[in-house]
Amino acid sequence: MNVRDVQHPMLPQATEEELSRQRAVVSLRKLLNARVRSENVRRFAEEGAPAFAARHGRQPQSPDEIEQALFESVGYRMWSAANRAAQEMIWVSVGEPIFRDRDRMQAAAAALAGAADRKGSLTLHADYDPSPEIAGTDVHLQPGGYARDDSPDDIVAGAFYETGGNVFSFGQGAGKSDSKAGVIFRLLEERFGGFTPGRVLDLGCSAGAASAAYADRFRQADVHAVDIGAGMLRYAHARAEALGVAVHFHQMDAADVRFPDDHFDLVVSHNMLHEIGADKRRRAMAEALRVVRPGGLVIFQDVDTRFAPTDVHRVEKNWDTGFNGELFWKTYNDADLLADMRAAGFAEGSIEEHNVSAVSNLNRWYVISGGKPEGGAK
Ligand SMILES: C[S@@+](CC[C@H](N)C(=O)[O-])C[C@H]1O[C@@H](n2cnc3c(N)ncnc32)[C@H](O)[C@@H]1O
Repeated sequence: MNVRDVQHPMLPQATEEELSRQRAVVSLRKLLNARVRSENVRRFAEEGAPAFAARHGRQPQSPDEIEQALFESVGYRMWSAANRAAQEMIWVSVGEPIFRDRDRMQAAAAALAGAADRKGSLTLHADYDPSPEIAGTDVHLQPGGYARDDSPDDIVAGAFYETGGNVFSFGQGAGKSDSKAGVIFRLLEERFGGFTPGRVLDLGCSAGAASAAYADRFRQADVHAVDIGAGMLRYAHARAEALGVAVHFHQMDAADVRFPDDHFDLVVSHNMLHEIGADKRRRAMAEALRVVRPGGLVIFQDVDTRFAPTDVHRVEKNWDTGFNGELFWKTYNDADLLADMRAAGFAEGSIEEHNVSAVSNLNRWYVISGGKPEGGAK
């Protein structure tokens, strides 16, 4: 159930032509990521830096100058333009089936959410004002962004996230067996002695893939998930119901969750830290610590782009900030998350960084975890 090719009625029914277009985008992205991008640091050394030096009479030094030098390389510019175009093609390739099939999907969502035997719940707030720092942006070029909400029964943001995310991931190396929740299950087993939560909170859940995986893995657990986007949450709720798992979805800001103190055994987030600014990140960490019980665990999993051997690698990794609508990608890469966790109140000895392989072993993820001491937050 965790794998990315899980089938359920909330997915758009694509024609063979649409599927072939998606496969073409996957192939293009595999080529751009595995073969073309890997040469960018060499392009800097062999083309960019010499061209910058010829123009300025010295080597590039600051991150801005390194970026300028990268753009002196025709090969880098070709990769950058092609990668941007491939990212836009993801959304075209999944947008056509979504909008053609939208009425059926919305009707399916309404039926699943209203079924007498539904297992979970959905709590939206009509007057909710989604986090303004990301609501106005097409993050990773997703049309309408995370907070897209076209109508009272809109599910497009969630449909985009799941189907676009699949095309993205299949072309990124992680592949069909990628499961970010699976990575945490393994960590709970191997590092945390088979920690089995009774209450779970998933922050920034999007289409609810990880939330549903927690509910599936810990069948007795009370699983809650929050996100800012109504369209995202309607989809996530219907998807979880379609898969037969109980998840309670709430429209809430991770930096201001409305749960009691000491309530959850496990608070997790998957790929949310890189989507929020520094202030919100620090408040989200403090909130996670507030709502986890003494002896419980807080685990933030995210992209593995934070550690770079040189400044050139670091600047190269920050491409998404300028060209992929990822407002806080660089902020996340440069953040001192250990200091943030300490400042949030996690006990010093409990904070750990983990560099973990994906379930498929083709990708790596960054994880930072912390615990609440038995006596409460310090
Ligand atoms: C990259 S997605 C991660 C989705 C999901 N956890 C996964 O790994 O598949 C980030 C999600 O965080 C949500 N988000 C951004 N800022 C948030 C906030 N302040 N509070 C709650 N969710 C937020 C976005 O709406 C988006 O759905």
